[in-house]
Amino acid sequence: MRLSDAHSAGDMRRFARRRLPRAVFDVIDAGAGDELTLRWNRESFDRISLRPRALVDVKKVDTTTTILGDPVSMPMMLAPCSFARMCSSAAEPAVARAAGRAGTLYAVPGGSGERPEIVAQSATGPLWYQLYMKPDHQANVELLDTIERAGYRTLCVTIDTAIKPYRERDLHNKISLPVTPSPRLLLAGLSRPLWSKDFLLGNSAGFDLMAARRAYNNFADAIMHIKSVTAEEISWLRDRWKGPLVIKGVLRGEEVPRMIDLGVDGIVVSNHGGRNLDGAPATIDVLAEVVEAAAGRAEVFLDSGVRRGTDVVKALALGAQAVLVGRPYMYALAAGGERGVDRMIELLRNEIIRAMSFVGATSVAEIDASLINPGTAPSRVDPGTDPALASVH
Ligand SMILES: Cc1cc2nc3c(=O)[nH]c(=O)nc-3n(C[C@H](O)[C@H](O)[C@H](O)COP(=O)(O)O)c2cc1C
Repeated sequence: MRLSDAHSAGDMRRFARRRLPRAVFDVIDAGAGDELTLRWNRESFDRISLRPRALVDVKKVDTTTTILGDPVSMPMMLAPCSFARMCSSAAEPAVARAAGRAGTLYAVPGGSGERPEIVAQSATGPLWYQLYMKPDHQANVELLDTIERAGYRTLCVTIDTAIKPYRERDLHNKISLPVTPSPRLLLAGLSRPLWSKDFLLGNSAGFDLMAARRAYNNFADAIMHIKSVTAEEISWLRDRWKGPLVIKGVLRGEEVPRMIDLGVDGIVVSNHGGRNLDGAPATIDVLAEVVEAAAGRAEVFLDSGVRRGTDVVKALALGAQAVLVGRPYMYALAAGGERGVDRMIELLRNEIIRAMSFVGATSVAEIDASLINPGTAPSRVDPGTDPALASVH
């Protein structure tokens, strides 16, 4: 299993499946419920076809763009994903280094196993800090102080995880959240000795079982103490956080103007990779609606199901400023540690360049709605008047 033999996110997934104990692979791979949304995320991308422009000189293709003012080498960043320490002992610092090397942005997860200030020290590129708000107000204050001191500029608050996620694959595997190192997990690891050695002994950077324990404690602290995020919390965050503020987990257009009025700078259209509400729509199907509602007053990003350079072009053509990928780099981290993440980003970047070349877009600005075959794009759903919304205005 050589990294150079991986040529796509699908290959990385197969490599990860071979490397990880089944229960650990499922923690990364699974969706909620019947995994409808997980499937729709892909099916909806696959339904859209592209209309390549003719007679364009694509000798030079420029993938650079900006994300809320941060210059990046491509319109793709790394989504906040907990559990990196389960994929590789190199964990979040390795992801931060790989993102920086590629010139792109990493959204450090609120459930990061490694402390956010340590991850920031490893980073050379721009970072977001993804926040899971805690019920304890003082804990939020202290956390924001810490991440501000660590140098994070952009805060991304996830709003789609008000309760503990529930995934049946984990239940069948007898994995409960938060995942803790247990004899059962270690037993499962016997089938994957390379993974077990790395998990238990860590790497030369000095990670060890205690680091794994600390990772789970950090994760547990974030995920076990979450609360509903309401307009009140967004207002508080807006007052408290001076840098750009992003909301992650938006799937309805009509809510967006109010979010922007509250001072939000960025919106991530996300269904959490199909991991929370099964039955939530594919994000690419609601993107245009959110972009229209944002009306250029906030940058709109998309994640959930992005696996190909052509997916990136489709999302940008429908109005996204950039996309985030989650599982692809997590599979890659499992398959080959830090080098795996390097390889995955490089593969996706090459796919973006190829997709842009073939559609005849020599810069990100040239990716527009004319590249989408109209009959294949999702039709805009009219949300009508929502009584719940009338009461909050
Ligand atoms: C293993 C895993 C852990 C995740 N942890 C978080 C998290 O801590 N915070 C968060 O906002 N989203 C989390 N997500 C969701 C991702 O940020 C992102 O929305 C999703 O992975 C995008 O879909 P994709 O995996 O199909 O690319 C996680 C996703 C995965 C797969």
